[in-house]
Amino acid sequence: MHPPTPEMARAAAILESGGLVAFPTETVYGLGADAENPAAVAKIYAAKGRPQDHPVIVHVAPDADLSYWACDIPAEAHQLAAAFWPGPLTMILKRAPNIPAAVSGGQDTVGLRCPSHPVAIALLQAFKQGKGGVAAPSANKFGNVSPTTARHVHDEFDAGGALDLVLDGGQSQVGIESTIVDLSRLGTHGPVLLRPGHISAQAIAAVIDLLPAAPDAEAPRASGTLESHYAPHTPVAMQETAVLRATLAQLAASGRKVALIHYSELALPQASLRLPLEPEGFAHALYAALRTMDGAGADVILVEAPPKDGAWLGVNDRLRRAAHGSAGIVHGLLNKAPF
Ligand code: TXA
Ligand code: MG
Repeated sequence: MHPPTPEMARAAAILESGGLVAFPTETVYGLGADAENPAAVAKIYAAKGRPQDHPVIVHVAPDADLSYWACDIPAEAHQLAAAFWPGPLTMILKRAPNIPAAVSGGQDTVGLRCPSHPVAIALLQAFKQGKGGVAAPSANKFGNVSPTTARHVHDEFDAGGALDLVLDGGQSQVGIESTIVDLSRLGTHGPVLLRPGHISAQAIAAVIDLLPAAPDAEAPRASGTLESHYAPHTPVAMQETAVLRATLAQLAASGRKVALIHYSELALPQASLRLPLEPEGFAHALYAALRTMDGAGADVILVEAPPKDGAWLGVNDRLRRAAHGSAGIVHGLLNKAPF
């Protein structure tokens, strides 16, 4: 392991003294605090405006000792860590008694993930000599779109505010949050997919020979699974290509301002962004696109519905939540006078 750079040593010192450091990961940017310092973790909740009973993910360095953080660890957790860490997979395990309940919103579990972004790894290796855990939700206000650049983090939190440092690691490669798999009730419920992401249920099944199921009523709560989440301020509507063509024409005729996120050749409204018709590329660009279109001053952000097959599960999940509060918005715009 190399000695930490001066910037990384400073970031680690801030965390060790109970401060907040935003840092890049391969999925989205995180808002980090010392996971073993409840007062520091409380600052995350305050900065985000997030309810106290929502658990946060604990980020650990490569080769971290899982048994320090969790207990009753099934063999499958070690297999998944070996296969996917560092990488965009979070595992929910039974929390070890020495880990403060504050990081898991009082639940008896803990979410663990080792991110693969080199800046995140350098930070985790510098912090407590690689033995610490950095509690970090996405670095955005509660319910907002997750940040995929340092600029987005600055846009979410005013300068001189709650954050002590924002590390810049460029644009996050994956672009949507990690896959979350619950292994804390493996013996009774099998693995459960709490949040779809870049690592699919099938990829998990290929390693542990068990296909993660959809969440049941008793599954651990995850705020990323709230119906309305990851949402811009402008209403979002998702439509199939043919319907979308008609909607674009109708909204144009009625003088409405539309921001469009699409992949097909379409008649373009005032603002538009074209994303690749390929799940990895679409996910990579999605949150930045939602933020840009949110700034376009439009009446609605229209999104061309992506394909429905398995590889698009994570993208469709995030889009559905972004659009959740906007049901009927297109109909409403067409049936109300614009002025
Ligand atoms: O990709 C990611 O996971 C990003 C980066 C920063 O690592 N983090 C992230 O954190 O998305 P956040 O807090 O925005 O979402 C974490 C999700 C939440 O839905 C939370 O409820 C769930 O993980 N979670 C964390 N610990 C949990 C636990 N012990 N039991 C159930 N859900 C948990
Ligand atoms: Mg989040």
